[in-house]
Amino acid sequence: MTSPPYSSPQLSVPSVTLQTLRKMHQAGEKIAMLTAYDASFAAVLDRNGVDIILVGDSLGMVVQGHATTIPVTMNDMIYHTRLVARAQSRAMIMGDMPFMSYSDPIKALDNATRFMQEAGAQMVKLEGGGELLAVVAKLAAHNIPVCAHLGLQPQSVYKLGGYRVQGRDPTAAEAMVQQALAMQSAGADALLLECVPAALAKKITQSLTIPTIGIGAGADTSGQVLVLYDILGISHGRQPKFAKNFLAELPADREISIDAAVRAYVNAVKQGSFPTASQVLA
Ligand code: KIV
Repeated sequence: MTSPPYSSPQLSVPSVTLQTLRKMHQAGEKIAMLTAYDASFAAVLDRNGVDIILVGDSLGMVVQGHATTIPVTMNDMIYHTRLVARAQSRAMIMGDMPFMSYSDPIKALDNATRFMQEAGAQMVKLEGGGELLAVVAKLAAHNIPVCAHLGLQPQSVYKLGGYRVQGRDPTAAEAMVQQALAMQSAGADALLLECVPAALAKKITQSLTIPTIGIGAGADTSGQVLVLYDILGISHGRQPKFAKNFLAELPADREISIDAAVRAYVNAVKQGSFPTASQVLA
């Protein structure tokens, strides 16, 4: 493991913990998650009720301007997570393990340790299915909170041939249900489902005891996540069908601000009014 390139982050215990997420899930309260990559936006999210701030490797596209998330390195993720951690007080911070940073259990443990010690993450997320069970079990055995990520896995874009809905055919759908159950048994604390048919996301959510967070996965997951730049309409390229520009849709007679857009997103998730049928993938 390389020595820390930065001084220590401000490590803290946020108000939203794994226990909070479990309680919200059991009580049927939707979990609101958004991405952030710096202190200013993280502060906006934190003060407007976002439960989990995801420092996503989507920063490779929306901040760094790459076409995919593949070029993002562990040092990039540590840097941005440290910026976010400085602004945190209530929300939990989830760090996204970048491409090839968790290709075996020891490498994953080293990099998850860096995320927590050097950057201030309180949970890590990793993309993949059955091949990652030993990795998830290793992190869980060391009490590192883990969010598994099934469905569309952007780090596999070159293998998938594009950003497409996953789990449409019955065999793939059943395989995803089994992978989700296996991830939970291996010790995952939450499951992110990206671009899967709403009916499949609902079935997976009902099959698990851990919370699910959906993006392009319909309204029946335990929570929702979007890329911050999509809700503000500042992502380059075409807006995904499942996303919504909350800033553009603020009522003209009320406050028009980034704070108000984030509040509108959180309220819509909590009230179940996002996603609507027009954002749901079949
Ligand atoms: O990197 C990211 O922002 C993500 C979300 C799209 C879920 O993984």
